[in-house]
Amino acid sequence: MKALTWHGTNDVRVDTHPDPVIEEPGDIVIKVTATAICGSDLHIFDGFVPQMKSGDILGHEFMGEVVETGADVKKFRPGDRVVVPFVIACGHCWFCQHQLWSACDNTNPDGEKLDKLHGHHGAGLFGYSHLYGGYAGGQAEYVRVPHADHGPVKINGGGLRDEQVLFLSDIFPTGWMAAENANIQKGDTVAIWGCGPVGQMTIRSAWMMGAGRVIAIDRLPERLSLAESMGPAEVINFAEQDVYDSLQEMTDGRGPDSCIDAVGLEAHGTGSFDSIVDKAKAAMMLTTDRVHVFRQAIHCVRKGGNISVPGVYVGWPDKIPLGAFVGKGLTIKTGQTHVQRYLAPLLKKIEDGEIDPSFIITHRAKLEDAPEMYKTFRDKHDGCIKVVMTP
Ligand SMILES: NC(=O)c1ccc[n+]([C@@H]2O[C@H](COP(=O)([O-])OP(=O)(O)OC[C@H]3O[C@@H](n4cnc5c(N)ncnc54)[C@H](O)[C@@H]3O)[C@@H](O)[C@H]2O)c1
Ligand SMILES: [Zn+2]
Ligand SMILES: [Zn+2]
Repeated sequence: MKALTWHGTNDVRVDTHPDPVIEEPGDIVIKVTATAICGSDLHIFDGFVPQMKSGDILGHEFMGEVVETGADVKKFRPGDRVVVPFVIACGHCWFCQHQLWSACDNTNPDGEKLDKLHGHHGAGLFGYSHLYGGYAGGQAEYVRVPHADHGPVKINGGGLRDEQVLFLSDIFPTGWMAAENANIQKGDTVAIWGCGPVGQMTIRSAWMMGAGRVIAIDRLPERLSLAESMGPAEVINFAEQDVYDSLQEMTDGRGPDSCIDAVGLEAHGTGSFDSIVDKAKAAMMLTTDRVHVFRQAIHCVRKGGNISVPGVYVGWPDKIPLGAFVGKGLTIKTGQTHVQRYLAPLLKKIEDGEIDPSFIITHRAKLEDAPEMYKTFRDKHDGCIKVVMTP
């Protein structure tokens, strides 16, 4: 089969691999019908995720048709149409039982490496390095899905197109959990950094949860306009306006009730001292994470407010304003999305017409164009917001 394969930083190619087969009785194999590129894939492409090996297949946002099932699989049979969560979970450990799916104890064979780094390890993830299990990803013609009875959601009926349900695999639940983690109360003012796919899904989710005002921050005009078209959100262009001053002015000096970092470790600086130091340290390979947005969110949020961090960080960044955090009495919530928790309720919202997540797609391509599409999406060329590919 053909699959998008990692060979090194900035070097991905479509190579031929053996077709996946059932390895465990709980596995299914699916024929991929649609797959997307995520901002998290860019962290791999740009070389910030350790423990990648040449030959690894990327991709964790995908869906398709079941072609084979293992002997223990109860929920699926060949021909079923499924969307697959990026988190691989066993379904029966303490964490899965407590709906903390991305913290699953049993699906990451590389867990020991993360135990040393983080104290504990979480679930295995599709196409996300040998820190997360080394599972082959779904930017491919076929993919093996382990623990199938505790992952994929079946799409019944032909009413919904792939593009409408594909983002249940990651970014719709991620935006939803980001908004949930921000503890939005009716009428609250929510500021969201990053108007990429995750930011856009967070904006929509914040509105659905009853936000009174949504303020979206980015510098790319097409992403700011898309944000503005929803709600409408108010926008701040961080390349032209001072973010802290603007947010305080917009909230009469109190600050937003919740601040959400939907940017993560590759944040662009704004010429501030901290972002210059981050950039220099990243260039010298002294840090992986540029945490300007996280710091700024803490600086801007109101006293007693909430910080939610869907953006991914991987290392030990410094100059975290812990003094402000304690002094202002803030709450923070973050994490890899517990995708399985949200599949049924969010599918229902799509079925009921409350949201059509395909609104973010700007580029449609074939899998063989994936290397080009990685560049287009990474460089934000051609107005690119989200790429969907078909094998
Ligand atoms: N927690 C999870 O489970 C999960 C799931 C999916 C994605 N993510 C993470 O979410 C983040 C966003 O993903 P995406 O697909 O939207 O990526 P993206 O790269 O398309 O979007 C990031 C956006 O942030 C903007 N940005 C950069 N610096 C900024 C700054 N200083 N202020 C405001 N905006 C700034 C960029 O212009 C861009 O539009 C990534 O870190 C990704 O890894 C996390
Ligand atoms: Zn993702
Ligand atoms: Zn588990």
